[in-house]
Amino acid sequence: MKHQIVEKNIGLMALFMVLAVSVGGLTQIVPLFFQDVTTQPIEGMKPRSALELEGRDVYIANGCVGCHSQMIRPFRAETERYGHYSVAGESVWDHPFLWGSKRTGPDLARVGGRYSDDWHRAHLINPRDLVPESIMPGYPFLMERPIDATQTARKMQTLRRLGVPYSDADIAGAEAAVKGKTEMDALVAYLQGLGTLIKSKR
Ligand code: HEC
Repeated sequence: MKHQIVEKNIGLMALFMVLAVSVGGLTQIVPLFFQDVTTQPIEGMKPRSALELEGRDVYIANGCVGCHSQMIRPFRAETERYGHYSVAGESVWDHPFLWGSKRTGPDLARVGGRYSDDWHRAHLINPRDLVPESIMPGYPFLMERPIDATQTARKMQTLRRLGVPYSDADIAGAEAAVKGKTEMDALVAYLQGLGTLIKSKR
């Protein structure tokens, strides 16, 4: 029987298994590269400003993603708490994306506009001043660290090459936009821009 030949030959069996799994996997994965819903930005989306972009780098450098996800899952418990679930189009210009998976703190995908800038500053300096039971570390040193304005334009050029539609004017104005700002200013600007395009119910 032909079937027995396959069952008794592990090499052949492995080959057929790999083929079967790849067909299954590819039919799921390949369309994602061509569907507008996963490759196109959502309506009205603008690239991050120079200051927000620097803030994103501060977020990455300080390991915020190690405790905070930016991916609201389509579960009742999450949408009630954080607002509309995250959609792929919101992240198409993020290189790398910061969806994360460690949820020690709240999800931050739609934290923009939820608090004032002053709240964020005070919270980042010492979270326990505002949330007594917080286990989040303080980041007071961000107040003293200036942004390196000489690199911002180059970061934007690199992102443009990856498909983020920065204009020549955006890039030309980048240095002036972040000059004299601290890492705290940039981080707060970044947080305030998160997920604001899709309005949450709350
Ligand atoms: C050790 C884990 C940990 C790290 C690292 C961490 N956080 Fe948090 N974060 C928390 C926890 C827990 C809370 C909830 C308590 C609170 O509000 O302080 C929180 C709350 C927050 C909130 C308020 C969210 C809301 O919806 O109320 C913001 C904003 C925030 N963190 C930003 C940051 C940023 C920016 C960084 C990096 C500079 C960071 N966090 C690093 C654990 C962490």
